[in-house]
Amino acid sequence: MKKIIFIIISLLVMSSCTSHKTEVSSPNNNIRLAFNIDDEGFMSYNIKVNDSIFIDDSQLGFEAKDGLNLSNSFEIIKTEFSSKDETWEQIWGENKIIRNHYNEMAVHLANIDSIYLTMRFRLFDDGIGFRYEYRVKDIDKIILTDELTTFNIRNNGVSWSIPASFETYELLYRTLPLNEVDNANTPFTFKTTRPQDYKTTSQQSVSVSESIYASIHEAALTDFPEMTLKSTDNRQQTTDFVHNEKLTIQSSEFKVQLAPYPDKTKAIFEKDNFISPWRTIQISNTAVGLINSNLILNLNEPCVLEGDLSWIKPMKYVGVWWGMHLGVESWVMDERHGATTENAKRYIDFAANNNIDAVLFEGWNVGWESWIGTSETQGETSSQVFDYTQAYADFDLDEIMRYAREKGIEVIGHHETGGDVVSYENQLEEIYSWTKEKGINSVKTGYAGGLPNGHNHHGQYNVRHYRKVVETAAKHQITLDVHEPIKPTGIRRTYPNMMTREGARGMEWNAWSEGNPPEHHVMLPFTRLLAGPMDYTPGTFDILFENTRNSPLRKKWNGNDKGNSRVNTTLAKQLANWVILYSPLQMASDMIEHYEGHPAFQFFRDFNPDCDWSEALQGEPGEYVAIVRRAGTNFYLGAATDGEARSIKIPLSFLSCQLSAVSGQQLVYEATIYSDGDDAHWETNPTSYKIEKKTVSSNDTLFIDMAAGGGCAVVFKIEN
Ligand code: NOJ
Ligand code: CA
Repeated sequence: MKKIIFIIISLLVMSSCTSHKTEVSSPNNNIRLAFNIDDEGFMSYNIKVNDSIFIDDSQLGFEAKDGLNLSNSFEIIKTEFSSKDETWEQIWGENKIIRNHYNEMAVHLANIDSIYLTMRFRLFDDGIGFRYEYRVKDIDKIILTDELTTFNIRNNGVSWSIPASFETYELLYRTLPLNEVDNANTPFTFKTTRPQDYKTTSQQSVSVSESIYASIHEAALTDFPEMTLKSTDNRQQTTDFVHNEKLTIQSSEFKVQLAPYPDKTKAIFEKDNFISPWRTIQISNTAVGLINSNLILNLNEPCVLEGDLSWIKPMKYVGVWWGMHLGVESWVMDERHGATTENAKRYIDFAANNNIDAVLFEGWNVGWESWIGTSETQGETSSQVFDYTQAYADFDLDEIMRYAREKGIEVIGHHETGGDVVSYENQLEEIYSWTKEKGINSVKTGYAGGLPNGHNHHGQYNVRHYRKVVETAAKHQITLDVHEPIKPTGIRRTYPNMMTREGARGMEWNAWSEGNPPEHHVMLPFTRLLAGPMDYTPGTFDILFENTRNSPLRKKWNGNDKGNSRVNTTLAKQLANWVILYSPLQMASDMIEHYEGHPAFQFFRDFNPDCDWSEALQGEPGEYVAIVRRAGTNFYLGAATDGEARSIKIPLSFLSCQLSAVSGQQLVYEATIYSDGDDAHWETNPTSYKIEKKTVSSNDTLFIDMAAGGGCAVVFKIEN
């Protein structure tokens, strides 16, 4: 029977296939993708950028259990082309208005085993996305064992990534030639250099304008394991003639690796169909073009939350948090307990007096004695018992909530699961309904610790868990800040209550390890943050821990702590990171006593995390970056550099996007500039800074001098 259906399909195909195109281009025609099937029905694709091969022939398909053939013998039934050009609005984000402009090619296929597949390709001016939509006849379960997708990058170049791990993203970035990368997590960012740019044999360097910046990632990861990349070691040498010289080109091929279940299978669907996340490549001729791309959001489904969504709002926050990481306070209820009623009120008062919206309390609930989430114990099977609805005796939650309401301050709740997702998930409904009843509208979650039953953090099992939490929180009108999360893939468009997450080495690493090196913060915007916002928690002012290092209260609690930790930036760069490291819930991380009376804290008071528009202006991964955001009528600029001192020029033409409502004329702004002191250096003199005021307009250029490991933050307010 199967065979008869297949023959009928094949006849249909033969009668019409001559008219089937298998190529699609981006709206501006710069990117072209070709889909191919070989004689045995194996599928592949390749991508050209500006008429040159960028991704060489690369494989497509899956492998599955029980003899399901998801990879070959395919024939095209029909190919459909369509286009879209629309703008949509989000309630928060780097940009509130987003253009979604693409050409789509949907290739409908079938094979002799009654497997139906649509390969959906979308080409945007800023990159591509494709996904698999499989349906298998007469079956009620599909178990995937491997994904065959490869990315065969034609030319060599440089890459910026963290290693692949199915447990953690809290790893240091590496800058590596593409052909030396063995494995990587995504977003995997790289710059290929066309043969024209290679030194020729006569060592004359030719045109450097042909570089392509790109980043491989995934969008809409909702019911699948995460994907990482592994080199196939297929590094083909090809030769090309450029300017009459023979050049050798070396390609690098990477294959998708899916996070496994304990039995090594990859994904399980109790139905006859599945749709993969989008496999994405953002493409630009500048590094900042990748940051300015909205491709990941555009490949997600529109918002499903209905009604009044005013409960979802960007906020600035402080919290009882850093003291624990420094080891001078504790999560458990002892004499060093951070989350006490008295301390909570002190933080609420500080927030109310400093134009801050919310306060986070960690260590407020019973159970921390059983936490095994330190880096020494991660990966152990959980024996933790957190109670998410019972406060410690010295934390009078009802009184604190009453006090916060009186002062107009939101409280951010905290649920550390220690990785024990089973017990958390079993109580989800009860926990979130209790939390909302208490008046808590926002929760930070954490998964610091190994998962039970041999599951890893990034497999389909836990992706489903994170999804359940997002849906349950949405049902109770609670926004989320997820630590130890699955990496962002744009689902904030569909569930805007999923506001921010960690998923990279954040500020905490500076408290108890060798810390994040100066290049880390200028790596994040070009890598991890391409995927979505990050709760990095910038803003530590006591950079050398002068006020806490020798405190009698201080106890080492983390195995990575060698006693010499510090923050590896200047103070001005801490301010700049509030702008650069985008998060709709933006924290000032330090203990509030380190902000009291500090002139530079005015920047955070003035800062507005609810931006309307953003643009990355200049930068190179791991070297420097400058980003501007507009929120209401103010603009905020953040610039930062790696370990090198750097001077940059920023034309202020972006100010012209706002004209006087009265005269229609260009506006004049007061710029308050927080920059590194002349003698600042992240290593030797990190707290030297200066504050200047200037009157500027869109015709001016700002000259910024950044110290080694330094930065600059500017607020522009319309002058009266
Ligand atoms: C890890 C989180 O990233 C951190 O912010 C939190 O303080 C600890 N877990 C404890 O929950
Ligand atoms: Ca963490």
